[in-house]
Amino acid sequence: MPLLSPKSLSLQASPIRKLAPHARAAEARGTEVIYVNIGQPDMPTPPEMIAELHRLSLETLAYAPSEGLPVTREAWSMFFRSWDIEFAPDEILVTSGASEAITIILSIVAGGGGEVLVFEPCYTNYLSFAAQADVTMAPITLKVEDGYHFGSIDRLRASITPKSKAILLCNPSNPTGTVYTEEELEAVAQVALENDLFVICDEVYREFVFDGGKVRSFTEFSELAQRIIVVDSVSKRFNACGVRIGCMATHNREILDVALRFCQARLSVATAEQLMVVPMLENGRAYSESLCGEYEKRRDAVIHGLNAIEGVNAHLSEGSFYSMTRLPIDSCEEFAVFLLRDFEHEGQTVCLAPGEGFYVTPGLGVDEVRVAFMYDADTLMRAMKILNAAVGAYPGKLIATTA
Ligand SMILES: Cc1ncc(COP(=O)(O)O)c(C=O)c1O
Repeated sequence: MPLLSPKSLSLQASPIRKLAPHARAAEARGTEVIYVNIGQPDMPTPPEMIAELHRLSLETLAYAPSEGLPVTREAWSMFFRSWDIEFAPDEILVTSGASEAITIILSIVAGGGGEVLVFEPCYTNYLSFAAQADVTMAPITLKVEDGYHFGSIDRLRASITPKSKAILLCNPSNPTGTVYTEEELEAVAQVALENDLFVICDEVYREFVFDGGKVRSFTEFSELAQRIIVVDSVSKRFNACGVRIGCMATHNREILDVALRFCQARLSVATAEQLMVVPMLENGRAYSESLCGEYEKRRDAVIHGLNAIEGVNAHLSEGSFYSMTRLPIDSCEEFAVFLLRDFEHEGQTVCLAPGEGFYVTPGLGVDEVRVAFMYDADTLMRAMKILNAAVGAYPGKLIATTA
C-alpha cells in the first residue's frame, strides 16, 4: 500500500468527537449520556429560517457565485451594521461556515510555513485548519489561575519571531469563555502594528457576553483597518450549525482578491442555505441576544456544580458558552473514558471534552476539561453532580490542584 502523506497523518482527531464510540456503547447499555463535550446548541433553529427554506421555489439548484449570493452578502453587511461594524457587501465573502473562512485566511496570510500567534487553550480545530494550510501555530499559553487572560503586552512581544504573520483571536473565547479586556485588545493592536501583522478576529460568539459585559470588536481599531479580517458564522447565534453558512470580511482588497480565488476553486457555498439565512441576518440581533440570558443561567449552574467538587476552583466564563476547568485528576482523557465505559450514576453519565486537544503545546491541558452549556440549567446541574460522584469513584490517579 502507498504511504499516506505526513501532513494528513499529522491532523489530530477531534477531542470533541473522539469519545463518540464510548458514548454510543454507554447508550447501548441503557445509560443516558449527557453530552457536555460539544458546542451544538440544543435550542430550536428560528422558525423564520425554516419558513424561508419552505418558501423557496427553485427549479434548478444552481451554483451560487463563488463570492456568495448578492442577497446574502447584503444581509451579512446589514447584520454587521446592526453591531456598528461597517463592511460593504463587496468586502464580504460567504463561506461554508467560519471553518472554511479561517482555513482560507490562514493559507493566505501565513501558508507555506508562516507562524500565527494564538492563545491556548484554543478552539481545537484551529490546529487542523493550520495543518491544512501549512501554518505553524505559535501558542501563548493562558492559565486558569489568570482566568485565561494574558494581561501584559510583553507576553505577546515575547512570542514574535521573524516568521510571525498574524494573530488569531477568538473573542469571546471557545474554549475558555474569556472576553478580552480593552487593554488586552489594545495590546494585540499595538503588537500587530509594531510587527506588521494581520489580526484574524473570530467573533462567532459576539452576542454571548455575560454579566452585562460587551465585546469590543477589533473593527473599532481604525488604524488596523487594512490588517483586520473578521470571521463570522450563523452557526451558534441562530442555533443553525447544520446550515454551514459563515463569512470573512475585510477592508483589505488584496486579501479579498486572493480569497476569492480560493472560493472560486471550491465553486460555491450551498445555494438554498445562503437564501434561508437572509431574514435572520437582516433582523436577527435581538433573537441571538435573547439567548444570552439563558446561557448565563446555564453558566451559573455549571460553575456552581463544578465548584462543589473538592479541589475544583472553576473560572467564571465571561462569555461564549463554555467553561474550561482543571479537575483534580491526572488524565482527564482517561477519566472521560472511565465516565462513559465504567461509570453511571442513577442511570446517567456525562460525556466530557478532555482539555489536551485544545492546546498547541504537547502535554498541556491533561488535567483540564471543557464543559459546553448545551442543556437547561437543571440538567447541567445534574451533570455536574454526576461528575462530582465520578471524581469520588475514579480509581485512577487523583492529584492536588492549586487553582
Ligand atoms: C471559535 C470557533 N470558531 C469557528 C467555529 C466553526 O464554526 P462554523 O460552524 O461556522 O464552521 C467554531 C465552532 O464551534 C468555533 O467554536
